[in-house]
Formats: sequence, C-alpha cells, structure tokens
Amino acid sequence: MDEKTLEFPTMIYEEGKVRFLAPALPEGWEKAVSPSGIPVFFNPYSKLSRDMAVLAVKAYFERKGIKVCEPLAGCGVRGIRIAVETGIVSKLVLNDINKFAYSLIRKNVETAGLVNITEVYNIDANALLAAHSSGGLRFDYVDVDPAGSPAPFLENAIRSCQSGGLLGVTATDLAPLCGTNPLSCIRKYDAVPYTSPYSKETAVRILVGFVARTAARVGMAISPVLTFYRRHYIRTFVKLTYSKTLAKESFKNVGWISECRSCGNVQWSSYTEPFKLCELCKSTPQVFGPLWLGELTSKDFALKVLGIAYEADMKEAYTLLKKISEELQTVPFYYRVDEIGKRLRSRAPKPASIVDRLRLLGFNASLTHFDGQGFKTDAPREAVEQVFSELASSEA
Ligand SMILES: C[S@@+](CC[C@H](N)C(=O)[O-])C[C@H]1O[C@@H](n2cnc3c(N)ncnc32)[C@H](O)[C@@H]1O
Ligand SMILES: [Zn+2]
Repeated sequence: MDEKTLEFPTMIYEEGKVRFLAPALPEGWEKAVSPSGIPVFFNPYSKLSRDMAVLAVKAYFERKGIKVCEPLAGCGVRGIRIAVETGIVSKLVLNDINKFAYSLIRKNVETAGLVNITEVYNIDANALLAAHSSGGLRFDYVDVDPAGSPAPFLENAIRSCQSGGLLGVTATDLAPLCGTNPLSCIRKYDAVPYTSPYSKETAVRILVGFVARTAARVGMAISPVLTFYRRHYIRTFVKLTYSKTLAKESFKNVGWISECRSCGNVQWSSYTEPFKLCELCKSTPQVFGPLWLGELTSKDFALKVLGIAYEADMKEAYTLLKKISEELQTVPFYYRVDEIGKRLRSRAPKPASIVDRLRLLGFNASLTHFDGQGFKTDAPREAVEQVFSELASSEA
C-alpha cells in the first residue's frame, strides 16, 4: 500500500477481515462522537454499524452474485468489508463526492483485491443512484450512511434498489429526530418529533416511517428486518418490494403517538385517525408523528443475524443482537422505571423484575435495547403501576 502518494497523513487500520488506509486521526479525537477536521471521513466508533451491515447482508441474501452500492463511502471500508467478508458480491459500486475520499477508496479497493468487481465514482450520490434506478442497473443492497440525515438521498436510494432487495439506512442527526430541534425534524422528515424520555425509540420510528412514506411514493413497500439505536446514530435495514398494493397496506403501520399532558398516558393511533382523546382521562393529548408503529425488527431475521455474529465472534454485535432479538416488537413504546417512580413518588424496581412479574401475570413484556431503564409491555398502564408498586415495596 503506497501511503505517500496521498496528499494527507494516513494510517493503516484493521477492521473485520480488512486492512485499509484512512486519515491519521487528531490527538484526543476519542472525546467526540466522531473525529473532525480530517480530509476524509472515518469514524472508528462506527465499527459496530459496519459489522451489522456485513452481518445483515450475509443473513439476508442466500445466493451469490449480489450487486452492492455504497453511495456515501468515505474511505470505502464498509462496502469493501461487505464484499470481502460475505464473499457473495459480484459487483461493488463505491462513491464519494470528496476527491480525497475517491483516491483513498481506489487504493483500498486495490489492497483488498477487489478491482475486478468494483467501480469507484467521485460524483454526487443522488446522481449516481438516479443513474442506477432502472432495470438491470439496480442494486440488491444499497447502504446509505451519511454524516447527518439520510433524507436527501432516500428516494433515489430506494429507486436504485431491486424489488426484494435490501436497503440499509443510518441517521446521525439525533437532535432533530429526538425532538431537541423540532423544526429541523419537520423540515427533513415531515414529522413532529416527540420530546420525551422515550425519544430514542420514537426517533427510530420517525426515520422508519419516513422511509416507508418515501418508498410508497414510488410504488415500493418496506418491511423492516433489523433496526437499532447506538451511541450517536440509528440504523435500519428494510426489505423493499415493488407493489403499490403493499405500499398502500404499509400505511397500516404508520400512525401517530400521543401523550396526555394531564395524566401522562401515552397511546398511538392510525394514520387516518390521529386525534383521539386520552383513553384514561378524556383530555386532548399532544400528537407526534407520523411514525412507524409496526415491527422494527423481524425476530427470525434478528436470530439468524445473531447466529452469524456468534460464528464470526463479533462480540459487540452479538450482545446488541441478543437484546434486540428478545425485545417485544408489538408495542411501539417503552416505559422507564425512573419516570414511573417520579409519578408514583416511589423508588424504582429493576426493569428486569418488572418484566418477570408481568410475564408471570400473563402479559408480554421485555427489556429494550433503547434504554437500560426501560421495559416494554402490552399490559395496561394500571397493571404496570400495580406491579411497579408491589415490587417497589417488596424490594425496599
Ligand atoms: C459518514 S461518511 C461515510 C462513512 C462510511 N460509510 C463508513 O462506513 O465509514 C459520509 C460521506 O458522504 C460523503 N458525501 C456527503 N455528501 C455527499 C454527496 N452529496 N454525494 C456523495 N458523497 C457525499 C462525505 O464526503 C463523507 O465521506
Ligand atoms: Zn389523560
């Protein structure tokens, strides 16, 4: 690998089964969520995101010869890892608008021995995706991994994906999605965010809902197969199917979440009937969304990916996938023990104890990867509060 011909200092990194060049990182970069001030984007903290992309592609495609596109590739490590570590890629298209990134990608493709199957571009991602949005030019897997919002690239990414293909999407603009900056969320995602202690899950649901609505516009339906929240980003993998009928049906999974400011009750409603009164106290609630209310992850798929992570000894991915695969998928909301404790003026039992007790009572319940203080259940709020109070007094 010739590091000298690049116009900036680089280092050799190793991740998964790949060695690659990326910019040398400034001292103390670890304190931020992502290194800044480097000529080509590279964030070692996103290794898990790349591990998950490798695993999801491996689990999803049961055949060889898939076409993969990474339109915002940085140094190219994600796409290169997918090709090398899955062994099923017959065509890899990597692109970045940054000319330094382009040079780095070319070098890294050469080092990985992928020159024969790879095309590297230095153009706007939307132009690249739009040029691949018909017939045999489409891809089986497209990975949209921007620094910030994926919104500007989504429609073209969806159009460049085959029916039955897989789309991976990252968002790192958590301030708008979690509600710190509501107008930005409205501008980018056409959705009102829910500023609350549960906003990690609603952020993810706003993103997935936006992917579903964008896909529906161009006659595609989505089925999320794996979705998670981690550190500074959220990520979803969705199956895309060309079908106007299924696209219309997917709106059954899009709706609104509302919070009653009088009694704290949280409820959700369908896309076409957003403005229900609070079921408990009949006040008018505040309404947020639209967002995805259906499953964020397919349990079967998560278990398959978990098995592959175990075999590949990807420990961090394995731990996260284990939590995700055990998570209740039928409830688009979680409780936080500290929030219930505040309302009931009581100390908080452990979330795991509440889950066990609710299950004993015949309800579905689980912990959630979104929040260590959180738990999910389909039990009514009165039952949750009763269990909470009983455990709080017995654990005291
Ligand atoms: C978060 S980085 C990609 C990281 C990479 N996917 C990884 O896993 O390491 C986003 C990249 O998008 C590139 N980019 C931003 N806007 C773009 C555009 N309109 N077209 C193509 N590339 C763009 C940036 O130069 C940057 O390298
Ligand atoms: Zn109420």
